[in-house]
Amino acid sequence: DWTMAEFRATKIAEIRAQVGDRRVLCGLSGGVDSAVAAVLIHEAIGEQLTCVFVDHGLLRLNEREQVERLFRDHYNIPLVVVDAEERFMAGLAGVTDPEKKRKFIGGEFINVFEEEAKKLGGADFLAQGTLYPDVIESVSFTGGPSVTIKSHHNVGGLPERMNMKLVEPLRELFKDEVRLLGKELGLPDIFVGRHPFPGPGLAIRIPGEVSKERCDILRKADAVYLEEIRSAGLYDAIWQAFAVLLPVKTVGVMGDGRTYDHVCALRAVTSTDGMTADIYPFDANFLSRCATRIINEVQGINRVVYDYTSKPPGTIEWE
Ligand code: XMP
Repeated sequence: DWTMAEFRATKIAEIRAQVGDRRVLCGLSGGVDSAVAAVLIHEAIGEQLTCVFVDHGLLRLNEREQVERLFRDHYNIPLVVVDAEERFMAGLAGVTDPEKKRKFIGGEFINVFEEEAKKLGGADFLAQGTLYPDVIESVSFTGGPSVTIKSHHNVGGLPERMNMKLVEPLRELFKDEVRLLGKELGLPDIFVGRHPFPGPGLAIRIPGEVSKERCDILRKADAVYLEEIRSAGLYDAIWQAFAVLLPVKTVGVMGDGRTYDHVCALRAVTSTDGMTADIYPFDANFLSRCATRIINEVQGINRVVYDYTSKPPGTIEWE
């Protein structure tokens, strides 16, 4: 795409001018945006960039391994992976309020990142994969009064505390443009085409209290659901699809026995920028196949429901 080729060249020149010969740290989330930002910045300044990936234990199945493979093996970009699952789970124990979860995760993410940054000897710049919708939606709700709907997770606050300047080369872009830029930079299609994933991760897909056990159950259900979506050839037609684990248990029957396990909700939406969304109209056979597989294969779930709410009035994530 010629426009993205131009954008790439312009941004590389801008990044070089901004950064000079100083050092940049980039926080990777596992998602497309921070990965594209990192690859672009690496192209501009090479070894002056170090990436830090905080594994908070709220990632999708095999996500950390995929990021490690892409950055270390494919691009040879210096990558520090921090295993912080235990401290996130400890801090999330007993927290049920969605905004408290978000605030804790955002704050703890900054703490972990800051500790790593210090170990690495600090840096003058912090790189983020902030997009245009992130800039507006975290300020106010579209068309409405200036009310914060959700505290978006980013590393806000860190730059001032550590005296770092921000490098945000994707600030003017929408998601589809970031994907084009990612392709232009040679990122694998399977990575570039991935559905968006929120910074607070699985925590906002587990209403109520989050625990490692609940995350493990959700990861399995989510992987089965996405496997079915991919094999039905529907993945690219959907903006975002994921499973949600409800803190509600219901009674079921399996074999000769009574079960009493969690409800799992399935969500799939179409959208162009995440600001409004419509539900994806799966056919009934597809949904019952997913329900059967999840109940048979995932211990801890005995009932599956489909979320029929568009945005607005719903949001895409449940918290
Ligand atoms: P909502 O749930 O507000 O989500 O309709 C809109 C889009 O934003 C993603 N999302 C987030 N992304 N940090 C992120 O990086 C966050 O804290 C966050 N919360 C929601 C969500 O997955 C959807 O694509």
